[in-house]
Amino acid sequence: MKPTLTKSSSLAQNSRVRVWDLPTRLFHWALTICVFGAIITVNVGGLWMEWHIKFGIAALCLIVFRIIWGFVGSRYARFSQFVKGPKGVLAYLKNSNTTPAGAGHNAIGAWSVMLMLGVIGAQALTGLFSTDDIMTQGPLNAYVSNATAETITSVHQLLSNAVIALIIVHIGAIIIYALRGKRLIPPMITGDVMSTQLAPNTPSARDDFNLRLLALVLIVILAAGSIWLWVLGNAVPPSF
Ligand code: HEM
Ligand code: HEM
Repeated sequence: MKPTLTKSSSLAQNSRVRVWDLPTRLFHWALTICVFGAIITVNVGGLWMEWHIKFGIAALCLIVFRIIWGFVGSRYARFSQFVKGPKGVLAYLKNSNTTPAGAGHNAIGAWSVMLMLGVIGAQALTGLFSTDDIMTQGPLNAYVSNATAETITSVHQLLSNAVIALIIVHIGAIIIYALRGKRLIPPMITGDVMSTQLAPNTPSARDDFNLRLLALVLIVILAAGSIWLWVLGNAVPPSF
């Protein structure tokens, strides 16, 4: 009996819990590339502004995908699983040192995720109407008055500071967690957390073929909308 017990307990110890489904992980790294891409290309300027627009529209597409995924995605990707009210946040702050970790975003991290989605979404939306008054404008710039475009462009410029600040805080928080021994990056790559690091009986998220197919259908529809926006921008003559 003894060897069987040892074997099964070591199996339990080594088992993995799927936390981030593949679509959420791909979303994350694609968004990272698009946001860094948009920031780098706008700073290089010149002909690279065309790529700023491409990265920006792709970022918008990804944010819309993530918002929908927050309702139809797997367990830990759902807003209803991780967004907590003030009571939930306070309870987390009180008990986080004593209670074993749950899977997914913690109550504080959840709000920083929502803030990032909101601010990056607003950044990309305002970009659609922005203009540099030289040769680059968002695809919807021609559909608003010059005064409105000017105001929205100022918002786009101001918001970019908030986007950069949030990214610095985000990466800083991940580094601080790593220094304290909590490695959050591997699960965002492989999807899994060792069950020993989580509260007992933490359930796995779904990450099967049908779920991935649903994500693929969604992203293809959203990408078609994004390409339409891009083509619309190229069809409209510059406003100067
Ligand atoms: C996450 C997405 C985006 C980020 C992080 C971002 C960031 C930035 C930054 C940092 C600037 C320079 C602001 C300054 O001059 O101080 C800028 C300018 C600009 N962006 Fe974006 N942007 C994004 C999305 C978009 C999108 C989707 C479009 C259009 C489709 C767009 C169009 C423009 C234009 C036309 C300018 C020039 C405005 C100016 O001269 O300041 N951006 N963006
Ligand atoms: C432009 C840069 C970045 C942006 C906009 C960004 C945005 C986000 C967002 C929106 C989430 C929530 C994921 C979700 O639930 O869908 C997230 C989570 C995460 N990000 Fe990033 N990210 C960026 C860069 C990075 C980098 C460079 C790293 C690694 C060093 C990283 C590591 C992580 C990790 C580990 C999580 C999961 C956190 C947790 O377990 O609660 N991110 N990020």
